[in-house]
Amino acid sequence: MNRFVALSSLLPLLGCGSAPPPELPDRVEVNLPFDELDHDQQMAFMATRVTPQMRESFQGYDAERYANFGCATCHGEGAEERDFVMPSPDLLPLHPSGTPEQRAMVEEHPEMVRYMFNHVIPEMRELLGEAEYDAETGEGFSCYACHPHAGEGESVTAADTFPARM
Ligand code: HEC
Ligand code: HEC
Repeated sequence: MNRFVALSSLLPLLGCGSAPPPELPDRVEVNLPFDELDHDQQMAFMATRVTPQMRESFQGYDAERYANFGCATCHGEGAEERDFVMPSPDLLPLHPSGTPEQRAMVEEHPEMVRYMFNHVIPEMRELLGEAEYDAETGEGFSCYACHPHAGEGESVTAADTFPARM
């Protein structure tokens, strides 16, 4: 299915903070999955599909905290200079599951972790056309699509950080 999206009318809605919005093509043909789009199409898809839907989601979780939801909420400050490559250095680095640090993180942010696990993960996975995380292969969409690994030299797989039960 092709989607033809007129972008010019949406530019004021991008919500990328005070920085001018990145250059977008006037019209773009968007085919899923996301990782098969070219860079311009990815920019456009993020602006017209991902950001509006996830803004609604995050504002449903906490309207006040996410009043200014935009690219930078996920990608961090200075995302343009980093070419929007994920993970974002501004998001909380996550430890793998089973570690005391990971348990402490869940205890410290129970509501947020539940929201991430039950809403952000499935909604983003569907938007991006990504596979569900598979612990056997280590493939698929997980917390580490957005959050950096805590510590260095980690060989852990993405969803190792998933709380065992939510
Ligand atoms: C809800 C979180 C979220 C928001 C909001 C968001 N993005 Fe993204 N973006 C992601 C994730 C996650 C990826 C990595 C997708 C993947 O795994 O392939 C990504 C990937 C990208 C990429 C591809 C980067 C690469 O690796 O080459 C671009 C470009 C991009 N985003 C631009 C934007 C722009 C521009 C905006 C605002 C209009 C935006 N994004 C808003 C989460 C977000
Ligand atoms: C699509 C991107 C994305 C994915 C995937 C994601 N998160 Fe998040 N996470 C965010 C954003 C954006 C925030 C909000 C940051 C803010 O409030 O400034 C956040 C915030 C958090 C916070 C709160 C941190 C704080 O300082 O208040 C925790 C904890 C968290 N995420 C854990 C997780 C866990 C665990 C997973 C996997 C189950 C996960 N996240 C998956 C984007 C993501």
